Amino acid sequence: MQTDFLVIGSGIAGLTYALKLSAERPDKTVTLLTKTQSDETNTKYAQGGIAGVMDADNDSFGRHIEDTLIAGDGLCDKEIVEIVVREGVERIREIIDWGAEFDKDSSGDYALGKEGGHSAFRILHHKDVTGKEMERALLEAIRTRPNIQVISHCFVLDLITQHHLGYLVTKATPDIVCFGVYVLNLNTSKIEKILSSITLLATGGNGQVYRTTTNPSIATGDGVAMVYRAKGRIENMEFIQFHPTALYEPGVRGQSFLITEAVRGDGGILRNLQGAAFMERYDSRKDLAPRDIVARAIDNEMKVAGTEHVFLDCRHFSKEKFTAHFPNIYEKCLSIGIDITKDLIPVAPAAHYSCGGIKTDEWGKTSINNLYAAGECASTGLHGANRLASNSLLEAMVFAHRASLDSVKRFDDHIISSFPAVLGSNVPDWNAAGTNAPREMILITQSLKEMKLLMSDYVGIVRNNERLDRAMKRLDLLYEETEALYQKTIVSPQLCELRNMITVSYLIVKCAQFRHESRGLHYNTDYPGKSLLVQNIDL
Ligand code: FAD
Ligand code: SIN
Repeated sequence: MQTDFLVIGSGIAGLTYALKLSAERPDKTVTLLTKTQSDETNTKYAQGGIAGVMDADNDSFGRHIEDTLIAGDGLCDKEIVEIVVREGVERIREIIDWGAEFDKDSSGDYALGKEGGHSAFRILHHKDVTGKEMERALLEAIRTRPNIQVISHCFVLDLITQHHLGYLVTKATPDIVCFGVYVLNLNTSKIEKILSSITLLATGGNGQVYRTTTNPSIATGDGVAMVYRAKGRIENMEFIQFHPTALYEPGVRGQSFLITEAVRGDGGILRNLQGAAFMERYDSRKDLAPRDIVARAIDNEMKVAGTEHVFLDCRHFSKEKFTAHFPNIYEKCLSIGIDITKDLIPVAPAAHYSCGGIKTDEWGKTSINNLYAAGECASTGLHGANRLASNSLLEAMVFAHRASLDSVKRFDDHIISSFPAVLGSNVPDWNAAGTNAPREMILITQSLKEMKLLMSDYVGIVRNNERLDRAMKRLDLLYEETEALYQKTIVSPQLCELRNMITVSYLIVKCAQFRHESRGLHYNTDYPGKSLLVQNIDL
């Protein structure tokens, strides 16, 4: 198969990019792949909302920029922060034009919320299901575009580069070129190659490398792992954001239900098991301090008391007020026997967001020619060492837009790098020689459990050198065993995701070992302070 533009991922970044391209170049083909059903994305689960300076009387670009820089703890790229904050408002207006609805107050103005680290009310939301509403609007808009083909249940295995034509490619190769991807088409159970002039990775986050995460099962870091295998540049992987308040449900594994930070924005109070409001002991901003601080404070309270959760107190809210803004949370809590007007909500931190990823420039270009990245899989420089709440939906839209502009320019200017030997027929078919059906799935599922456990216990909110060294040794073994299995087994999404998550875990640990300081989301008790050398670590 051949396409002009190939998009991998159907979350906010992939869908926005596809819509933009299709509008700019209705004569060209845009093919969008997604590994399960098209709305199963991190985007769909976003609750709190999207940050943007919509109320010029009480907010300003300068304040949003400042809040983002403070949260990022010295590692944000200031130019990128300015781009995202300034251009973000236009992108928000665009998605409103495409049909997304955000809540308004009684006077018809947008009802803006507040979350940790924000100095103003600037979060647009659709009750507590903002991402679902944005995903709906984008998917509906996509369906009206005849030049966009969406193929769901199509698992991308690897990027095709000159490596597949028999050339040696290393990290030092100056002109690595992406010609498309190999996919496992789950609709046909066949491995196919899709060649494209330009490819965008919008594969989302990697929360699934941890035992407890707010991310759905698709969040396995596939894009990052593919770029790393293709020798592209990855950075800042140590900065994994743990959301302070995932609902604690004993026995629930996989995706944890989120209690949005907007609940604290509206007055929710964290309490320990003795009932004491503890955040004032950690930060003057109390429950609305940036996420890294709140998550560490909760982690400490849990460790001191030897418990697996703390509580979020919403008993002082009126039922009407709570259900108007948070109907989904109200219903979820009620379904497990918690009436938020009478009961405390048990909460604990959970892996939530990857601040690092595939290194991109201000146009979303990666270090590999013809390959762009946007959304959570990309590292644009916006978040630095810690993402400000509700900045990621904004970032995804801004960079999907920028990448679309640059892609069209590249396409129209005929500057798409064409490697001498590349014509469709020269790219070999996937080589499955010597592989057989898996004998038993336990080899995959047990390794997955081990990986999640070691990442949670050794590479969580609080780290130290010994834990990181142990994690690396165990990952080495898991890597060897999984590579051996991969060489002899017919590929499946389960095996490929395990392989990708082991790569991502390795990158997180490697970056954490490089950083000899505590900064933002990376807290290492062997280096309790910050170093004077402020730099991003590039792999
Ligand atoms: P996603 O939306 O995750 O989409 C990834 C896509 O890539 C999927 O379609 C998937 O199928 C596809 N894919 C992945 N691997 C492959 C493969 N190998 N082959 C084919 N397809 C593949 N951010 C905010 O700004 N505000 C919020 O209020 C907010 N709340 C959140 C609440 C929750 C519970 C979570 C989990 C996150 C929240 N975030 C929030 C973060 C934000 O939702 C995500 O960062 C953002 O939606 C990511 O969008 P994306 O387009 O990059 O990726
Ligand atoms: C939340 O609603 O608390 C999540 C917001 C975010 O991750 O940006």
